[in-house]
Amino acid sequence: MPESLAPDLLTDQHIVVTGGGTGLGRAMARRVSDLGAAVTINGRRPDPLAETVSDIEEAGGTAEGIQCNVRDPEAVQAFFDEAEERQGPVTRLVNNAAANFLAPTEDLSPNGFDAIVRTNLYGSFYCTQACGRRWLERETEGVVLSIATTYAETGSAYVVPSAMSKAGIVAMTRSLAAEWGSEGIRLNAVAPGPFPTEGAWDRLVPDEDLAQQMQDRVPLGRFGSPDELADLASVLLSDLTGYMNGEVVTFDGGEALAAGGQFNTFTRMPREQVKALMEQLRPD
Ligand code: HXC
Repeated sequence: MPESLAPDLLTDQHIVVTGGGTGLGRAMARRVSDLGAAVTINGRRPDPLAETVSDIEEAGGTAEGIQCNVRDPEAVQAFFDEAEERQGPVTRLVNNAAANFLAPTEDLSPNGFDAIVRTNLYGSFYCTQACGRRWLERETEGVVLSIATTYAETGSAYVVPSAMSKAGIVAMTRSLAAEWGSEGIRLNAVAPGPFPTEGAWDRLVPDEDLAQQMQDRVPLGRFGSPDELADLASVLLSDLTGYMNGEVVTFDGGEALAAGGQFNTFTRMPREQVKALMEQLRPD
């Protein structure tokens, strides 16, 4: 763990991480705990929740895992009641739970569409609204950090329900930043590029060749690591960024921008070759 973040950065915070048993959620839960927060994670499967909680406890942190499917609004209310009973008022929320799979859009069934949109969009809304209501009633500040994606802005083929729902999460973030900002409630989002986690890669990256192609698209030449994302999330959840509200922070090694610029493909050629080509184009 880098020592640059103060170990008490998130002391006195009770942070909920949805989908916190695995992948990026797990990395964020671990990191905010290392920085002093009490953590409550939720998810559908008890085993990953128990593993993450015991991992955090072994590292000296305080964590609770509560089974909950964020698609179910009643289960979400019950989850927050239980989380607060166990560890006191929730002060920060990370909307991380997500569902996705690759599908030709013409073949998507209503159930398939629902499974993704209900998890990503409805789930994030239910959790955000539950926290917002509590914070407004108590007249306390609060922070919501949602995990979006770079293709929320650009769209992406073959993941249309995910792109639609992540775009909705961005819209929620910006809308509520305005609506609740005056009450001391801030909402921001992170738009990650490719981060190889089991949950995402099993569903979205069919083979090694495609993984390599995805990596080659990133100007920095590598995928992101969950720990890097967890560091960024910790800062965004802290008071260090107390004036940031309604922002979407892209965290993708430059991948999304590189996909857009018309001449960016030149960067895949050796630099000397590019220089020679450009020399040819110079007028005599
Ligand atoms: C087509 C599929 C499918 C697939 C499921 N379905 N998988 N259709 N291709 N690969 C259809 C089913 O046939 C069914 O429709 C409907 O979806 C619901 O499926 P269930 O298995 O009954 O639902 P459920 O158990 O809720 O599963 C939801 C899920 C699953 C989305 C399908 O993958 C899941 O739980 N994922 C959670 C974790 C996850 O997805 N992590 C990745 C997020 S990462 P019918 O009509 O047959 O009933 C991410 C990063 C993006 O988003 C950025 C990457 C660069």
